[in-house]
Amino acid sequence: MDADLQARFNAQIALEHTAERVYLQMSAWAEAHDYTGSAAWLRSQAAEEAEHARLFMDHVLDRDGQVTLAALDAPPAEYEDLLAVFVAALQHERKVTASIGELYAAATEARAYPSLPLLTWFLEEQVEEEASVSTVVGELEKVISDPSAVLLLDRELPGRRDDAGEG
Ligand SMILES: [Fe+2]
Ligand SMILES: [Fe+2]
Repeated sequence: MDADLQARFNAQIALEHTAERVYLQMSAWAEAHDYTGSAAWLRSQAAEEAEHARLFMDHVLDRDGQVTLAALDAPPAEYEDLLAVFVAALQHERKVTASIGELYAAATEARAYPSLPLLTWFLEEQVEEEASVSTVVGELEKVISDPSAVLLLDRELPGRRDDAGEG
């Protein structure tokens, strides 16, 4: 595997592990604030990010590349309210989408065509992730000043994942 591409894949693995830890920390915040539905939803997201990291690792290894795990910064632990949690989640998903786009461009440039199907799958996955988080942000924006409405939405979140066949 091309050295530059390998470095980019390793950076992507670090970003997926960062996303896992961001979601885990958010889940802990939500649980501590009695948003048990959001906590479960965020915990499932974290598990999905760990799986993403594993998929990228396997791909690097399958292409005879070298996997190098990076040191990671601590994720933010404090949030203003539940809306702030999901706004931060959306920002992180957008960052991941941009990063995978850059990886796709670099793989194309390096003629690493065998990497493109995996990256295409990830880009489709990011469209879904951004859409589902964006929907929650939009709904929370409408009800954030009404604690009982926020709780209702919170309790509904885990079922939403089940409906989508995720988690
Ligand atoms: Fe991911
Ligand atoms: Fe994600």
